[in-house]
Amino acid sequence: MSEIKLVGVVGAGQMGRGIAQVAAASGFQVTLFDINEEGLDFALSFINKQLDKGVAKGRLTQDVADSTLAAISKTTNMQDLKDCDLVIESATENKEIKFSIFKQLDEIVKPGAILASNTSSISITEIAAVTNRPELVAGMHFMNPVPVMKLVETITGLETSDATIDCVDAVSEKMGKTVVRADDVPGFAVNRILVPMINEAFYALFEGVSDARGIDNAMKLGCNQPMGPLELADFIGLDTCLAIMNVLYEGLGDTKYRPCPLLKKYVAAGRYGVKVKKGVYEY
Ligand code: CAA
Repeated sequence: MSEIKLVGVVGAGQMGRGIAQVAAASGFQVTLFDINEEGLDFALSFINKQLDKGVAKGRLTQDVADSTLAAISKTTNMQDLKDCDLVIESATENKEIKFSIFKQLDEIVKPGAILASNTSSISITEIAAVTNRPELVAGMHFMNPVPVMKLVETITGLETSDATIDCVDAVSEKMGKTVVRADDVPGFAVNRILVPMINEAFYALFEGVSDARGIDNAMKLGCNQPMGPLELADFIGLDTCLAIMNVLYEGLGDTKYRPCPLLKKYVAAGRYGVKVKKGVYEY
């Protein structure tokens, strides 16, 4: 763990930018990579705003905010990750995209460096198998919003070494997170439970049990959930929820995981949630 100084983050979306922010705030030097320059600029201005809010609320000093921002460099050239000690991949939840990124990272990043994935459900064993360093590949599953949520699920692939999983646990803890280790099975621990609940909320809506507000209020007021399941689906991204249901359905082979047709329909219509300003609700 002492040798982890430079952390690369692949993907400047809502998860990647949160991971970059928390890593930089925890004393790591961060290189944030994305193929999209505009996405990188948006991520850095978002992080800047979050830090400004923290300063305004007296949670951190201006100096700390400045040094956190200064610790993050951006790049559209993956070669710039070559000297990283640890790279955390946080790209789109799609197997082919992740396999392609890990093949490239394996060629580019220095030997001995750890390659972690923030995948929410794809097999770490399969991701590791496309590299020539499967013992150095692990899962680091952060929750959204990353700066707020306390958990990192760390996932041990079949070939992940003890030293690698100990190291990603230690990095997560240095980032102020509590670690829960999960086995490399579809959905790991959180999404094995959370996303079928969200899928069931779509079935309840589909079958007219109540309207969207009614379903969300039932779970917020009746079960003390901070967000109702449909609101949470919009927040996570309906496309991501559907991708996770498909992994559960295919990976576990049980029809109880079949994605709700209404969830599929929303995704087909491009209603991906908050990020496109329309999902179950409009924003
Ligand atoms: N980034 C950084 N900080 C954020 C934020 C964001 N996107 N959104 C909210 N916050 C911070 C706010 O700044 C605020 O901080 P302070 O209290 O220090 O001022 C704090 O969070 C609370 O925010 P708000 O007062 O604006 O709103 P809230 O009380 O309604 O909380 C919430 C917002 C934290 C998002 C809360 O609604 C919540 O916990 N929702 C559930 C989130 C959840 O379940 N996440 C897990 C999703 S599953 C996942 O990520 C895994 C996966 O693979 C799908």
